[in-house]
Amino acid sequence: MGESRYPLLNWPLMHNNILREDLDALIRYLQQPDPMLTQSTQVRAFEEEWSRWLGVKYSVFVNSGSSANLITLCALRELRGLGEVIVPTLTWVSDIASVLQAGFTPVFVDIDPQTLGMNVDQVLGKITNQTKAVFLTHILGYNAVNQKLLDGLRARNIPLIEDVCESHGATFQGRKCGTLGWCSNFSFYYAHHMSTVEGGMVCTDDPALYQTLRMFRSHGMVREADDAKVKAEWAGRYPDLNPDFIFAYPSYNVRSTEINAVLGRSQLPRLDANNQLRTRNLEAFLSGLDGSKFRTDFAVEGSSNYAFTLVIRDADPDYRDRVQAAMREAKVEHRRGTSGGGNELRQPYLRRLYPDEYRKYPEIDHIHFYGYYIGNYPTLDRIRIHDLTKFLNEI
Ligand SMILES: Cc1ncc(COP(=O)(O)O)c(C=O)c1O
Repeated sequence: MGESRYPLLNWPLMHNNILREDLDALIRYLQQPDPMLTQSTQVRAFEEEWSRWLGVKYSVFVNSGSSANLITLCALRELRGLGEVIVPTLTWVSDIASVLQAGFTPVFVDIDPQTLGMNVDQVLGKITNQTKAVFLTHILGYNAVNQKLLDGLRARNIPLIEDVCESHGATFQGRKCGTLGWCSNFSFYYAHHMSTVEGGMVCTDDPALYQTLRMFRSHGMVREADDAKVKAEWAGRYPDLNPDFIFAYPSYNVRSTEINAVLGRSQLPRLDANNQLRTRNLEAFLSGLDGSKFRTDFAVEGSSNYAFTLVIRDADPDYRDRVQAAMREAKVEHRRGTSGGGNELRQPYLRRLYPDEYRKYPEIDHIHFYGYYIGNYPTLDRIRIHDLTKFLNEI
């Protein structure tokens, strides 16, 4: 084998967020004489602690971020009726799949290259009298909300749903993302800021939505609501049914377990400190990159990033192939297209429904072909990050 031109950087996409102390907390929990494993008081405590951390009244813990997306859109359908939902072209598959699965029509917008979130002018321009919600994604830790969006949606009475699965702790003007709209979704999958192995959260201040989400989490069952008035209303409307078995909605079972909640509770106290380290890392990464080769002008204010965004400046496929080959050689794990692999409209499940739509969004197409993400974890130091940017700049 010939000698490598590049240093071996051995840079994985993520380090495990679950530490020995979290496993020990779980072992202590399991060592009780008869520990409860199915959803119970640990889940409830994690929801309360998460609500306090985020600054919302209610949280509903589910088995994944995708499940959070799904029951959010189902609840939107029940509470607001069917119609259009404005979605980004850069997001995770479940953000669009949930819109389709709940029966809505997705309306797509291009991204803003600085935030990687939705282009706010396009969002406001695509609102019609059929619009039921804007379902925004904060991409890879960058806040995607601005005041124009919040004011425009408030003026038109359109609910904002925030997907914060990739941006725990990001803020807009000091307010946490996930508190800016009607409700929000989080993921606790391995790759994110903290992990419950699998897991997700739906968060809101709206009591009616909260009760509906609680039911949707567990088969659409009315007894899962925790408001006696809500239960009495359903029981009163259906006196022929056993109140323990009233299925209000055609739903799913997306509950998590006590085991996952114990892991989440153990990590939550470390989240803010870890986010600070990751934010410091992102600053070092972006300031070390050669701005003539890579984009460095991201909207970093309030960001909380778990993956470095590496976006090649010019649409040069040969240079892109060299960057990609060099990263492979240096063992720098990466994902092309960033979140969800880039232009969601290019994916087969959407091409079948909207064959030519993907051609209309140039900004996301640039990210699709020339954008990457690379791991950013709290254990990195400046020297490691300098080695990475030096390597990238020299390609
Ligand atoms: C923006 C976004 N939404 C939703 C999800 C789905 O979360 P999960 O993997 O927990 O199902 C992800 C997953 O990575 C994501 O990045």
